[in-house]
Amino acid sequence: MIVTKVLVIGGGGREHAIVWALQRGRRKCEVVCAPGNGGIAQTATCVPVNVKDLGDLIRVVAEQQPDLTIIGPELPLSLGLVDEMQRRGLKVFGPTQAAAQLETSKGFAKEFMQRWRIPTAHYAVCTSLDEVHASLPLFHVPMVVKADGLAAGKGVLICKTRDEVLAAAEGLFSGKLLGVAETRIVLEEFLEGEEISFLVLCDGKHGLPLAPAQDHKRIGEGDTGLNTGGMGAYSLDSLLDSHMTEWLMTHVVQPTLDGMSAEEMPFTGVLYCGLMMTARGPMVLEYNARFGDPETQAILPRLETSLLTVLEAAVDGKLDSLELRWKPGASACVVAASAGYPGEYKTGDAIIGLEETAKDVAVFHAGTALKRGKLVTSGGRVLAVSATGDDLQTALGKAYAALEKIHFDGMYFRRDIGHRALSKNS
Ligand SMILES: Nc1ncnc2c1ncn2[C@@H]1O[C@H](COP(=O)(O)OP(=O)(O)OP(=O)(O)O)[C@@H](O)[C@H]1O
Ligand SMILES: [Mg+2]
Repeated sequence: MIVTKVLVIGGGGREHAIVWALQRGRRKCEVVCAPGNGGIAQTATCVPVNVKDLGDLIRVVAEQQPDLTIIGPELPLSLGLVDEMQRRGLKVFGPTQAAAQLETSKGFAKEFMQRWRIPTAHYAVCTSLDEVHASLPLFHVPMVVKADGLAAGKGVLICKTRDEVLAAAEGLFSGKLLGVAETRIVLEEFLEGEEISFLVLCDGKHGLPLAPAQDHKRIGEGDTGLNTGGMGAYSLDSLLDSHMTEWLMTHVVQPTLDGMSAEEMPFTGVLYCGLMMTARGPMVLEYNARFGDPETQAILPRLETSLLTVLEAAVDGKLDSLELRWKPGASACVVAASAGYPGEYKTGDAIIGLEETAKDVAVFHAGTALKRGKLVTSGGRVLAVSATGDDLQTALGKAYAALEKIHFDGMYFRRDIGHRALSKNS
């Protein structure tokens, strides 16, 4: 039997979920993860890599000779890892550096959406404070100010007054806010509505939607407090009914794919459409060019089709011949974080109780490491517990029951994951 060798780049909860989905699929594959983490290392080979260093990433790829590489995080995409691999004739799932601009430059994404008439908030791209001053009369407050480039969730400021807009713009241009001086920023109309994460697999021409999900970005219950990388997510078909999914495929996804092809940067990989469901209809808040974290930890446990087959079809341009099968019902994923996150937090604390969790939940590690054979915390978001069920309440019940068994010093998790959907149903 031919065993496909798959290399997964990254080392967070998203990558653990990808590795887990590959390993439970019907098709046998050997999975290597670079750099991986303490949890991934329990079932797959982990090899060290600096994901910020293109040369080092290429070194790992050359050493491993994988049949397929899956790139988890945005940084290697922004460095052009896909371009380098394609030049070497290697199969890789993810967009090229040019195609990844949908995520890596908000100015590019907004101008692209305008060119292709994809619904999004009104905006202005500014390269100086003078331009910000000149654009201000075109907007009502509140307004949103965004850094153009990747900012790991820290580059978006909601401003209630024009003075706040000017202060935010000044902070971004000067480098005071993000540590690096932005040369371009985006001003945006403030939109109201429910946010949905709509992830679509793309092969350059065709899009195949994944089950819809909703993320919980704030640290505190009731969506309060600081922004985080994501404290939990759930997937439920009713987040987007079939009509809305079709509308989004016709008015957002297909025009995006057609536009990117027409501009000679066809998009292969996951097109993550961050949507705001406004009174005027769905609007694209942002694109990401990769699987979402933690949405992936909620979505993949529902996927019944072999992930390997699906991702190979995407790389081969054959997504039109594929239909995805999903577990009906719902899934939920709850993130456990270190005390203090998203601010300062300590690491190196022992994690116990994992072996006591029920067999039908999956524990995806994010910030964990093996120290002398023992699992310890090594990041802000430490792990996520995911479960599926006939309905959201059942899935959440399983995830929270498992979290009661797990312990590390200062462990924090939100107890209200899925609250919007639950309050709608009651
Ligand atoms: N125009 C807008 N109106 C209202 N809220 C907005 C708007 N744009 C962004 N936001 C809020 O800010 C959050 C982050 O914005 P955006 O997704 O553009 O930034 P990001 O840093 O790329 O996020 P991510 O880390 O999810 O990729 C959104 O999830 C949304 O809650
Ligand atoms: Mg983004």
